[in-house]
Amino acid sequence: MKIIKATDYDDLSRKAANIISAQVILHPRSVLGLATGSSPIGIYKQLIDWYNKNDIDFSQVTTVNLDEYVGLSGNDPQSYRYFMDTNFFNHINIDKSKTHVPNGVAPNINEECARYNDLIQQVGGVDLQLLGIGLNGHIGFNEPDKEFEKLTHMVELNPSTIEANKRFFDKIEDVPKSAISMGIKSIMQARHILLIVNTDEKYEILKESLFGPVTPHVPGSILQLHSNLTVIYSCNKTL
Ligand code: GLP
Repeated sequence: MKIIKATDYDDLSRKAANIISAQVILHPRSVLGLATGSSPIGIYKQLIDWYNKNDIDFSQVTTVNLDEYVGLSGNDPQSYRYFMDTNFFNHINIDKSKTHVPNGVAPNINEECARYNDLIQQVGGVDLQLLGIGLNGHIGFNEPDKEFEKLTHMVELNPSTIEANKRFFDKIEDVPKSAISMGIKSIMQARHILLIVNTDEKYEILKESLFGPVTPHVPGSILQLHSNLTVIYSCNKTL
């Protein structure tokens, strides 16, 4: 595990973007596992900036996103597909057909989960997985539970996650109650994981995830077992 303390959010975003950029420069056909939420926005901005300066070429890159809300189509501004398009994909030369996000309005969600699992295999697995973490330790939408869910699955969101994500919606009732999430096994099979944490309020859950017991009650704790984990954080306290 490599732990890097950033001086602030801009520094964190640049450092993380540097790692993603190096991955794409060294391996133009990389498969990037991407994340939504507020934490990665600065990274995407930085990568767009470097793309505009002709420093990075995304034309051969494939992406697979971690999760999507059930019931929201890709045209819905609250969907994670819409988030990825507007915050990143629309601004770079990526082939949109190589960008993958679970389909939250698939007629059969279980079949969609199975399709997404197959897809991750078909593209050869994830080379570099970008991850944020929820206040309760969730990664992707893998919520605290009695056991780790291995593969892509449908998940009922915890009340605390709904509460945390209501800031993106007009009212809390609009936050979907369920989501499709890549499973822990798929995340752990990524060849490199880049975890980013940028608020003081997440310091304790980050510490617990990295140094507490490995338990499905803190999904992020499984990351301790990954052989190539890089953590970049920007918090007042030092790990
Ligand atoms: C959501 C996403 C996660 C993300 C988490 C933290 O629930 N499903 O993938 O890591 O929120 O988001 P933020 O970066 O906005 O704190």
